[in-house]
Amino acid sequence: MNVLVTGGAGYIGSVTAELLLDAGHAVTVFDNLERGHRAAVDARARLIEGDLRSPQAVRAAMEAARPDAVMHFAAYALVPESMEHPERYFRNNVAGGMNLAEAMLEAGVRRIVFSSTCATYGEPERVPITEDVAQRPTNPYGESKLMFERILHWYERLHGLQPVFLRYFNACGATRKFGEDHDPETHLIPIVLQAALGRREKVFIYGDDYDTPDGTCLRDYIHIADLARAHLLALTSAHTGAFNLGNGTGYSVREVIETARRVTGRPIPAEVAARRPGDPPRLVAGAEKAGAELGWRPAFPELETIIRSAWTWHRAHPEGYGSG
Ligand code: UFG
Repeated sequence: MNVLVTGGAGYIGSVTAELLLDAGHAVTVFDNLERGHRAAVDARARLIEGDLRSPQAVRAAMEAARPDAVMHFAAYALVPESMEHPERYFRNNVAGGMNLAEAMLEAGVRRIVFSSTCATYGEPERVPITEDVAQRPTNPYGESKLMFERILHWYERLHGLQPVFLRYFNACGATRKFGEDHDPETHLIPIVLQAALGRREKVFIYGDDYDTPDGTCLRDYIHIADLARAHLLALTSAHTGAFNLGNGTGYSVREVIETARRVTGRPIPAEVAARRPGDPPRLVAGAEKAGAELGWRPAFPELETIIRSAWTWHRAHPEGYGSG
């Protein structure tokens, strides 16, 4: 298939583009390179530089690529930033998404695989979180993703779009080519590995007084290659609607640090600090639906394998993608 990948220069988009190309699909990346990296665009892909917030740019990319389907990753994705600048999140993630959906309708493209998030559930009413758990986001980032899910839902009913919403839990790990490089970095595993590389003095553990076995927060860490494979399955599936993507196991912040110490053989100093506002104690996926309907089975569920892949990438790219 011919696939337009928005945000294909970002972390999850770059790896999904790589797997699409490996599987013989043609890929056009649409990215403004504001937070993505030119070096993260697979050499086999075509890159169109452009901004989602410009209806003209999106329409021009759709006309140039003439895709059979769209994978939509391009978005802002920092929870703390969204609490300070909600308008950025609604403009880019919602209004930008609408530009994309409208350009798809004009071009007669129906299939869209959309990067959604467990942040749409907010503080979940039960764990493991299945797709029918109430979606009550606690920040504008999660809200913006939920709003675009709802828009796509109505465009499915009224305009015949065929959307799939993939609700990611904690994406992490790397392939040999592509890994995680955000600026600023806020995610636990890259921060821990930067400490292992000596690029940070220590890791702060945000709270150790939660109601969890060791007092630190539990997250469902999912390998980026497993996430990417779910997109390929969603692309050709007859199903529409929402799928959670996680391993169904929660690891604590302390377990992540301990595992990274084992994998890297480095001490990784850590210090307990105050809770980070808005962190739910447990986010663990019930992802049976993706197994049953998409045939998705994570190939790399072990935390150690995930951290090892990230460590290999970070050692090869100690400065990330450089200046980008
Ligand atoms: N953490 C630390 N120290 C750090 C960084 C993180 O203790 O330096 C802790 C956090 O408090 C949290 C856990 O490690 O308990 C994981 O934090 P991340 O920032 O790596 O990931 P989050 O679970 O906060 O974020 C993920 C996704 C977001 C999504 C969010 C939903 O990356 O896109 O889940 O809550 F919005």
